[in-house]
Amino acid sequence: MRIFSILVVLTGCSSVERWPVDPQTGIRVRGLEPVPTLEDWPDNPYSDAKRELGVLLFNDTRLSGSGQTNCSTCHFAPTKFQSNTPFDLPDRSVETLEPVLPRNAPSLLNLVHAPVFRWDGSLGDDLYEQMVIPFAEANMDIADRLDAEHVHDLDFEGAKPALHQRLSVDIAGYVPLFDEAFGVDIRSSTDEEVWTLSGKALAIYMREVVSSDSAFDRWNAGGEALGDEALRGLELFVGEGRCAMCHSGPLFSDFEFHNVGTAVPDADGVRVDEGRFLVTGDEADRGRFLTPTLRSVARTSPYFHDASEIGIAGVIRRHINPVDPLHDPILDGVVLDDSQVDDLIEFLKTLDGAPLSAETTALVIDLPSQ
Ligand code: HEC
Ligand code: HEC
Repeated sequence: MRIFSILVVLTGCSSVERWPVDPQTGIRVRGLEPVPTLEDWPDNPYSDAKRELGVLLFNDTRLSGSGQTNCSTCHFAPTKFQSNTPFDLPDRSVETLEPVLPRNAPSLLNLVHAPVFRWDGSLGDDLYEQMVIPFAEANMDIADRLDAEHVHDLDFEGAKPALHQRLSVDIAGYVPLFDEAFGVDIRSSTDEEVWTLSGKALAIYMREVVSSDSAFDRWNAGGEALGDEALRGLELFVGEGRCAMCHSGPLFSDFEFHNVGTAVPDADGVRVDEGRFLVTGDEADRGRFLTPTLRSVARTSPYFHDASEIGIAGVIRRHINPVDPLHDPILDGVVLDDSQVDDLIEFLKTLDGAPLSAETTALVIDLPSQ
């Protein structure tokens, strides 16, 4: 009993000494800062009316080609705005039962802090635009013009007028809501204006979809203790495991593209998904994907762009045994035994954010009338 308590005291001491709070930054671990406070956007200041409109647009299945899909179908609000399924089906207006979406739908947590979007960084860098693009994808296919053959295409030409028509004529209940939110009568707006305002309203809703204030953040700011396993995991994360060479900063992502051997080339050197290469055409970018955030990662299985891992242990083992010759050399020479992998997992679990409010995750069924 006595030995046990001495051990506890010693372990406690060593972790505090190993990670003192830096008086200048107020945190223990440089490079793994808390999620920043979100300032008001000058071109889209917050209002409750915009927030309400954003929630409705997110939940309204009538804004899809089939009338059956909304954003929450794949970015399911109660499960961290992702679906825990490998590949979601496109909107049912695209007639095929194949799981044709080739990539895993990411969680929308902390999207408001992200400087780059999508697994390959495609489709622009503007959050407002990101939020409406899905109407033009097979995901929502609002104009009901994409078929199985064109499931990867974008139909802006059809989607913009269709969204305008839906919101200003077919479901006229949206007209006063846009007026309250933006002081605009969308019946006399252009398709382009309605497109942009919809993106702005959806983005306002995303401001509350954040993962922050985790056990790690509280410890990092000098507060509550972390378990020994998690502390050993942290040690590996920033040291031997080299994780923080890519998963760094407040969101545990450098927002760069790396090849960690997840898209394995076949005998002819062809990958099912060439990732960043598809955007840049640069040979060096083959098999590179955006470093994903690790906040709340224990809640967002399956993992990787192609959902090829269900558990984090498998994710880590794949990182340290990269089978792609183009893999990032940072990964070379990293060796972790099973207990070290377990420690890393314990550390990653401390990145679970404070729960989202019931209003944020509610599935709204009380929608504007026609
Ligand atoms: C049928 C499934 C599906 C639906 C419906 C859907 N999405 Fe997605 N979403 C995806 C997939 C898959 C990706 C990943 C695409 C990629 O990175 O190549 C994605 C990516 C995104 C991204 C980029 C996220 C990031 O981390 O970079 C945003 C933003 C987004 N969706 C918002 C929405 C919004 C808003 C709606 C509703 C208007 C919506 N999505 C509807 C499947 C869907
Ligand atoms: C060379 C940069 C790099 C290093 C080093 C690195 N990662 Fe990653 N990590 C990535 C990239 C890129 C992906 C996404 C790959 C994909 O989806 O194909 C990823 C994916 C992940 C995922 C899955 C997240 C999700 O939402 O799908 C986890 C968990 C993860 N890494 C943890 C770690 C841990 C733990 C370490 C240290 C042992 C580590 N990573 C080291 C770049 C890196």
